[in-house]
Amino acid sequence: MRELKEIRNDLNQCDLQILELLMNRLSCIEEIIEYKKAYGLPIFQPEQEEVQQETLIRAIGEHGYKEELLGIFRQIVEESKSVQSKSLFHYNIALIGFMGAGKSTVSKYLKDMLAMNEVDLDTKIVEDQKMPIKDIFAKYGEEYFRNCESNAIISLKDCQQTIISCGGGAVIREENVKNLKKNSRIVLLTASPETILERVKDSDERPILNGNMNVEYIKGLMERRASLYQSAADIIIETDGKDIVDICEELIQSLMKLEAAI
Ligand code: S3P
Repeated sequence: MRELKEIRNDLNQCDLQILELLMNRLSCIEEIIEYKKAYGLPIFQPEQEEVQQETLIRAIGEHGYKEELLGIFRQIVEESKSVQSKSLFHYNIALIGFMGAGKSTVSKYLKDMLAMNEVDLDTKIVEDQKMPIKDIFAKYGEEYFRNCESNAIISLKDCQQTIISCGGGAVIREENVKNLKKNSRIVLLTASPETILERVKDSDERPILNGNMNVEYIKGLMERRASLYQSAADIIIETDGKDIVDICEELIQSLMKLEAAI
C-alpha cells in the first residue's frame, strides 16, 4: 500500500490539474458567448447541451461512480451557465404582463437555461402571508394585496442575477415600476385575450378574473392596463403561437440589442 502522504500529494496534484482545466473551460465559455454575440447566433442551444451530455455518458460508461461523475458535470454546466449569464446581463430580468401572458413559464425556462435565481412575486406573497392569493383578497381586500406586492418588490432591492416574475397588476402602482427599474430590465410579455382565456380558464386562483372569465372582460381590463404595461416595458415580446424556446431566445436577443444601444 502507498504511503498516505504520497496519496494525498497525488490528490492535490489532481485538484490543481482540475482547477487549471476548469479555468480553461470557463475561458471557452466566455469565448463562445463572444462568438455568439458577434455572429448573432442563438444563445440557447438546448440540443447542444444534449449532445454534450450524451458524449459524457458514453465516456463514463459503466464506471462505478457514474452517478457521482454525472453530478459533478451537472454542477460544472450549471456554473458555466452562470458565467454565461453574468457576461450577458448585469441586471435582473423582471417579467410583467397580463395574467396568463406566460410570465411563470418563461421565468422557469430562463432560470434553468441561464442558471439565474428566480423569484415569483405571487409565490413570495403567498409564502409571507401563509395563505393563497384568493384568500388574501377575500379576507383583507385588494388594497392589502397591492401593499404586499409593493413590499415584496422593495424587498428585492439587493437581488442580483434574478428573474423576477411579477403579478399581472404589479404595474398598477408607479412606485413598483420605479423600484423594479432600479436593478432590472423590464420585459413585457403579451398575448391575445383569446390566448389568455385559454390559459387561465381552468384556474380559480385569480380573484380578479373569478366571475369574469370571458374574452370581453379580459379584453377590457387589458385595454385599461395597456398604457401602464407599455410605458413600464424596456422590451415587449409577443407570445401568441410561439414556443417557449423561441420566446426566450427572442427575449435574450432583444435585451442584448437594448444593451448594445445604450
Ligand atoms: C393579478 C394577477 C395575478 C395575481 C393577482 C392579481 C392582477 O398574478 O398577482 O391575482 O391584478 O393582474 P398573475 O399575473 O401571475 O396571474
